[in-house]
Amino acid sequence: MKTDAPCDLLVIGGGLAGQASALHAAEAGFSVRLLIKKPFDECSSAWAQGGIAAAVGPDDDPELHVADTLDAGAGLCKVESVQFLTQQAPRAIAWLREQQVAFTEMPDGVAALHLTREGGHSRRRVVHAADATGQVIMDAVTAQVLRHPSITVCTDQIAIDLIRADKVSPGGARRCVGAYALDVKTKKVVTHAARAVLLATGGASKVYLYTTNPDTSTGDGIAMAWRAGCRVANMEFMQFHPTCLYHPHAKSMLISEAVRGEGGLLVLPNGKRFMDAHDSRGELAPRDIVARAIDFEMKRGGYDCVYLDITHKPAKEILEHFPNIARRCQEFGIDITREPIPVVPAAHYTCGGVITDLDANTDLPGLYAVGECTSTGIHGANRLASNSLLECCVFADAAIKRLKLELSNGTPAPPPLPAWDESRVTDADERIVVSHNWNELRHFMWNYVGIVRTNKRLQRALRRIELLKGEIAEYYGNFRVTSDLIELRNLTTVAEMTVRCGMSRHESRGLHFNRDYPKTLPADQAQDSILVPED
Ligand code: FAD
Ligand code: SIN
Repeated sequence: MKTDAPCDLLVIGGGLAGQASALHAAEAGFSVRLLIKKPFDECSSAWAQGGIAAAVGPDDDPELHVADTLDAGAGLCKVESVQFLTQQAPRAIAWLREQQVAFTEMPDGVAALHLTREGGHSRRRVVHAADATGQVIMDAVTAQVLRHPSITVCTDQIAIDLIRADKVSPGGARRCVGAYALDVKTKKVVTHAARAVLLATGGASKVYLYTTNPDTSTGDGIAMAWRAGCRVANMEFMQFHPTCLYHPHAKSMLISEAVRGEGGLLVLPNGKRFMDAHDSRGELAPRDIVARAIDFEMKRGGYDCVYLDITHKPAKEILEHFPNIARRCQEFGIDITREPIPVVPAAHYTCGGVITDLDANTDLPGLYAVGECTSTGIHGANRLASNSLLECCVFADAAIKRLKLELSNGTPAPPPLPAWDESRVTDADERIVVSHNWNELRHFMWNYVGIVRTNKRLQRALRRIELLKGEIAEYYGNFRVTSDLIELRNLTTVAEMTVRCGMSRHESRGLHFNRDYPKTLPADQAQDSILVPED
């Protein structure tokens, strides 16, 4: 077992939250180690399509951005966090442009960024790079990370657990001082020691059978922080994106909300529109409302999918704005300029997560968290479209400003850390057990903890989770860890959190709809669902 030399900051996760944090920290003069379990382009950040929200248009203002975010968040956003986010947004766009991100500009030589629109936004506010905003941002940012001499990138390493000084050395402080990670290629566990650790591991949408997310979204950071003693909040608010391509061979293919923003209409198989009957904002209502409306119409009509129709727009305009969506749909035999696109909702974004403050501090000293793995109070009960790439940039900057203060106050080097103990485990005999459990979990989460929930379904899911937990604990105690086992254990933890938060909420709000409690409690009774771990 290997222990690498301590670094100033260990960043776990290489999406936009992790890479932006790493860059800010390196620019501040710190030595940074960046751990990622899969290649750079396998993360939600690189898959983002629509764009990044910022009040930069002539008719816009951060206060309008605040109002739209609060409205989408259905009474659970923290106003202070939302104000912070929206005020920093123009600065975040400027920082990305300094990193050489080439956003789409206005046509005909107008010196301004082109802004698109998405559900819940009262203005054109979404800065984008055609329909591949995430890829363009990540290509530019990754190039900066790879050329920075103070950043060491460790790919193919999956963090297993965080290390607390008080748990590993007598008299040690209650402080995060590193992490254990499995090197997937050598199959050895590496001990990473650091003066501070930053979690940027993304969301947990892989807990559902159908998702827009890459395979990396297994809730690892949320589960690790929980085991290390951090509170977690609002896990019942799992966002389902209304429009994922419905095709037997298209795994996880999102059709951007910007298609509706640019005029796309949702229709039933008979061509009839239905959104106006559900919300006066029609196709541009916030996501929870649109996804629930589609779910309702599919169940009422017994349809496999509904359709997103943008054929009434000129083909040239469609192809200019959505070249990648058009190309990928064409690969499945769908010409989006001529025919409606079959779509269904799918799990997309984890609004809850590790509780953090405006400086990205968690409950554990020395541990910061940024991006989709957090609960900052920005998203409330339903995230406003395109606020999450923004959150990654704004909170990465805030975290490193705080880190500068913290480390300059004389935070000592981490104590010597014990190596990972493998003395009592052997190689697994039946790996198939792990994949069966993965499938079972993702199926029952989809069926019982999906867009519409009931008390009985939540209880059924919890009973199955308890069984899985027992099997996983036995497996974990006896066999060498593998990445599948690490992820299954984490997914089961976040599934339990989702169900427990759901059971504790005796109302329907935002993304959480329970048929047994269909009403929303009055505003003064709106509360976060907070889970408190054993320390
Ligand atoms: P991610 O980008 O998911 O990165 C997580 C990183 O952590 C990965 O590098 C992963 O390998 C690593 N990791 C995870 N666990 C471990 C571990 N145990 N050890 C080591 N490494 C680990 N948001 C918008 O604002 N605008 C959009 O247009 C938009 N479009 C989207 C389209 C799609 C298809 C999807 C899936 C999401 C979209 N979102 C969009 C949401 C947004 O992309 C994500 O919320 C955001 O990018 C999350 O960034 P992150 O850095 O927190 O996580
Ligand atoms: C999209 O392009 O529809 C995704 C936007 C988001 O999730 O914020």
